[in-house]
Amino acid sequence: MTVYAIIGGTGLTQLEGLTIREALPLDTPYGAPSADVLRGDYAGREVLFLARHGQPHRIPPHQVNYRANLWALKQAGAKAILAVNAVGGIHAAMATGHFCVPHQLIDYTAGRAHTFYEGELEHVTHVDFSQPYDAQLRERLVAALRAEHAAFSDHGVYGCTQGPRLETAAEIARMERDGCDLVGMTGMPEAVLARELALPYACLALVVNPAAGKSSALITMAEIERVLEQGMGTVKSVLARVLAG
Ligand code: HPA
Repeated sequence: MTVYAIIGGTGLTQLEGLTIREALPLDTPYGAPSADVLRGDYAGREVLFLARHGQPHRIPPHQVNYRANLWALKQAGAKAILAVNAVGGIHAAMATGHFCVPHQLIDYTAGRAHTFYEGELEHVTHVDFSQPYDAQLRERLVAALRAEHAAFSDHGVYGCTQGPRLETAAEIARMERDGCDLVGMTGMPEAVLARELALPYACLALVVNPAAGKSSALITMAEIERVLEQGMGTVKSVLARVLAG
């Protein structure tokens, strides 16, 4: 049976309902992951859980050791990855509180350690990334969102910015012209590192604010946290359905 790993983002540093069997303090050739990898049971299934920003939340998006995180999950036995990401909404359909299972992404990050293929290599490798997310995993997320009667989009383009600052309105306008529907800071290089390790990967994105320039209100952490709190119940039910399915 597939062992799923859940990477919890902002608002999901702990998976309530997870019966922890083991906390694995793993080390990797790339350093330590953000937190112990938790092995436990959730929705009647064995699962691995990792808090992307550490437990408690302390590592900003540009300082997450994505390579160590992915390597540690593979080492712990993960066979597929479900990533949970809080995002800003760019497309009009991506209202606050809306969910999206993106089908594509554009990487605007810079300077992040983004590949396992470096140093002395036996082969130069260019991994295929034309479809960054796993189709079957995406379908499972979509089916679970539908069953939960959530407001969601079954596709969308995720633009990943460097952060930690939020974007300017002009940057969001450019991203919109590029075709981005959502903006976040943690989708990359996580997705490509999973691909390099041959781990199927999909993203469950929750819109927590209108992206810069999409609303006259200031983007505040207090508002983002309020939306996260409201959305996490659905995130947990969706994850449980995917695991149980
Ligand atoms: N921009 C970038 N990342 C984000 C945002 C945003 O507006 N909201 C949540 N993560």
